[in-house]
Amino acid sequence: TDLPATPAWAGRLRDVADFPKPGILFKDIMPLLADGDDFAAAIDAMVAPWREARLDAVMGIESRGFILGAAMARVLGVGFVPVRKPGKLPGRTLKQDYTLEYRTDSIEVHADALPPGARVLVVDDVLATGGTLLAALSLARQLQVEVLGAAVLVELAGLGGRERWTSDVPLVANLVY
Ligand code: PRP
Ligand code: MG
Repeated sequence: TDLPATPAWAGRLRDVADFPKPGILFKDIMPLLADGDDFAAAIDAMVAPWREARLDAVMGIESRGFILGAAMARVLGVGFVPVRKPGKLPGRTLKQDYTLEYRTDSIEVHADALPPGARVLVVDDVLATGGTLLAALSLARQLQVEVLGAAVLVELAGLGGRERWTSDVPLVANLVY
């Protein structure tokens, strides 16, 4: 395949072995976030494919998808809608269960977060098994918004996320490991 050259900011991603459980290799984005220039460069790279997409909002997935997604929304000049872990949103919510690499969980979004037909981009930090991003896609569908794409900073190949993403919605990863 045709992978772009690895950007300099990729060096700020840190591998942490056996976190949060034995056998899991965790991609830690905190060193990247802590560096102003590299954080900005990473956000610029993530927004690049979507500058002409006429988005209305970014839907960012808790927790680390909030950080990247909110920064992207600000650069694009569009709204931000949080997709949260259960029990955190005060209003009426839509809910979707999903299975992670190492546990099951649910995510929620406010039922009135966006009008039907709104043009959205779904954002998270990492694609692993794809369970989280697929659950967010399902929430977007329940909201009846138009999903223009999904964006992750890092795709972990070999965990099945890309294979499970059978949707026609483009899934863009800036780095693949
Ligand atoms: C991590 C990561 C992605 C998800 C990817 O989130 O941030 O959201 O796992 O895994 P998947 O493709 O197998 O679903 P996690 O819920 O562990 O933690 P966070 O709250 O720190 O984002
Ligand atoms: Mg997450």
